[in-house]
Amino acid sequence: MTISCKDLAKVYEGGKEGWPALRGVTFDIKPGEFVAVTGPSGCGKSTLLNILGLLDEPSGGSYRLRGRDTGAMSDAERSLARRDGIGFVFQSFHLLNRLTAAENVGLPLLYAGVEREPMRERAHGLLGRVGLQGKERKTPLELSGGERQRVAIARALANSPEIILADEPTGNLDSASSREILDILFGLNAEGITVVMVTHDRELAARAGRNLRMRDGRLEA
Ligand SMILES: Nc1ncnc2c1ncn2[C@@H]1O[C@H](COP(=O)(O)OP(=O)(O)OP(=O)(O)O)[C@@H](O)[C@H]1O
Ligand SMILES: [Mg+2]
Repeated sequence: MTISCKDLAKVYEGGKEGWPALRGVTFDIKPGEFVAVTGPSGCGKSTLLNILGLLDEPSGGSYRLRGRDTGAMSDAERSLARRDGIGFVFQSFHLLNRLTAAENVGLPLLYAGVEREPMRERAHGLLGRVGLQGKERKTPLELSGGERQRVAIARALANSPEIILADEPTGNLDSASSREILDILFGLNAEGITVVMVTHDRELAARAGRNLRMRDGRLEA
């Protein structure tokens, strides 16, 4: 099992008793699945994705990632597991506007200690893979929204992750660009990468192999 969550709970601080964003969520995701997470605004989708991506820790329950209990990991182990196993794609791209597309894609490799020239080659290869050959030297501000998201996907692929977590990756895009981004994610899934994608778009969700529907911090049956 790639992802195995049991009774996952998350209470954010605030107010007298805090705010329960996840109230006991149990599910497994097998290697190679394409899972869409849907549900109304505020139901806990991003909270769940952040926990799956080891960006945040649950307040209760357990999360096993590739068989390992993440609750027992040190901060350093969590960082490594995140760096080497998980690629992130966000709604608002999260690219650095002062860097070129290739430099943005190369950044995770830089952190992983890859030398300059192999880093450049790999970044160019990844940009080619998402259809951005020739745009390596453009900065995000010189690219369209769809192109920016493709740079973000290339960056997410830099360390050859087994899992891609995408939080409303098409939320800021028109329908044509959305379809392109989804086609890329499906292509990656066809190559064996597990994809978990939060989306508000029912049509996109319908294309996924499986839907997890959330409401008020719980999974609907
Ligand atoms: N850092 C935080 N501190 C306190 N409460 C938070 C925090 N982040 C989220 N919440 C609350 O937790 C609940 C779940 O939030 P979350 O962002 O997971 O929802 P979501 O399903 O992703 O919504 P959306 O579709 O609008 O992105 C919300 O009620 C939100 O207000
Ligand atoms: Mg959200």
